[in-house]
Amino acid sequence: MVSHLYVHIPFCPKVCPYCSFYKEASDRNKTQAFLDAVLAEAEYESEGLRPRTIFFGGGTPTALSTSQLKFLITGLQSRVDFSAVEEFTIEMNPATVSHEKAEVLLSLGVNRVSMGVQSWDEELLKTLGRVHSGVQAARSYAILREVGVQNVNLDLIFGIPGQTHTQWVESLRRTVELSPDHISAYCLTYEEDTEFFERFQRGEMGPQEDRDADFFETAMSELEVAGYAQYEISNYALPGRECLHNLGYWRGSDYAGLGPSAFSTRSGWRRRNVADTAEYTLRLLEARDRFDFVERIDEATRRAELIAFSLRTKDGVPEQMLPQNQAAALIQNGLATHSEGRFFLTREGKLLADGIAAELI
Ligand SMILES: C[S@@+](CC[C@H](N)C(=O)[O-])C[C@H]1O[C@@H](n2cnc3c(N)ncnc32)[C@H](O)[C@@H]1O
Ligand code: SF4
Repeated sequence: MVSHLYVHIPFCPKVCPYCSFYKEASDRNKTQAFLDAVLAEAEYESEGLRPRTIFFGGGTPTALSTSQLKFLITGLQSRVDFSAVEEFTIEMNPATVSHEKAEVLLSLGVNRVSMGVQSWDEELLKTLGRVHSGVQAARSYAILREVGVQNVNLDLIFGIPGQTHTQWVESLRRTVELSPDHISAYCLTYEEDTEFFERFQRGEMGPQEDRDADFFETAMSELEVAGYAQYEISNYALPGRECLHNLGYWRGSDYAGLGPSAFSTRSGWRRRNVADTAEYTLRLLEARDRFDFVERIDEATRRAELIAFSLRTKDGVPEQMLPQNQAAALIQNGLATHSEGRFFLTREGKLLADGIAAELI
């Protein structure tokens, strides 16, 4: 039985220059056909699917209107067995939050909101090309709480061009003052096919390793002191508020993914839907194959993925899965530690997690 469902909504109020998620600026003419296509896909995927967690991501799912969200969620409820849902998350951009939308989402069973704040600093928000201000993000957070959303995550980005250490500490403290249940803190990455990547190639901006490492260590210290446990490299939660959906991914559970560019992993097969909204919609409405990538997850792939994901989490990796010499050397160099048969990264190791994973796989 598959217990995780992801739904990708590829629309945004405005496309941010650093973001490589599959998305496009909202276009009202395409939306209804797209929603019909997602519901058609839900019918194909419904067999053997009883989600314990649902995650509406994107893009910006709340770029859909309240009535479109209602149509989509009630449509899914009549096609998929929702009786076991414990966590139902929706991603929101602060510019797309309203009392009415939040109330309707709660009434439809959404019980967790993940909002992309990125920074509270007005100048840095402009650098990121965000469509909202810090003041608007604070107002949107207040709306979510007034309406009664009990479980809220805020996304932050660090390593923004021009960002100072003081600005980052202020962003973290401002976030903690609001007491969100969960905080995701991502280091800005320069992704291919983004405007920021082109500017990086022209030498106008780019990562600064020492500064970014300092910002990452600052996040770990500030958030730990404030009571947020780092349960994955970029994710911090108050006790009991870890994201169950993401824990499912990291533990290698099967999941169903609906929408353009969404992956599904079921019964040893991974499939990706075509990353083009018009093409995705057409293929589903004509009952044609919607995948542009299919792979068998063999034992070696499964092992490699489990190591790479688990290494990033506080549960760590079972030691017997790892090559002994490399694991021992990492422990000796202070990059990792072990206890009760499990192998974990230390703070220093977390700074080098991707390289270490590559070495151990
Ligand atoms: C799908 S978006 C979240 C919801 C909504 N679209 C928004 O932006 O407010 C997921 C998150 O990924 C992060 N993100 C996107 N591109 C990134 C990049 N290049 N580097 C680091 N974080 C990034 C941002 O923190 C963003 O909030
Ligand atoms: S960060 Fe969010 S709002 Fe910006 S383009 Fe990416 S998905 Fe859209």
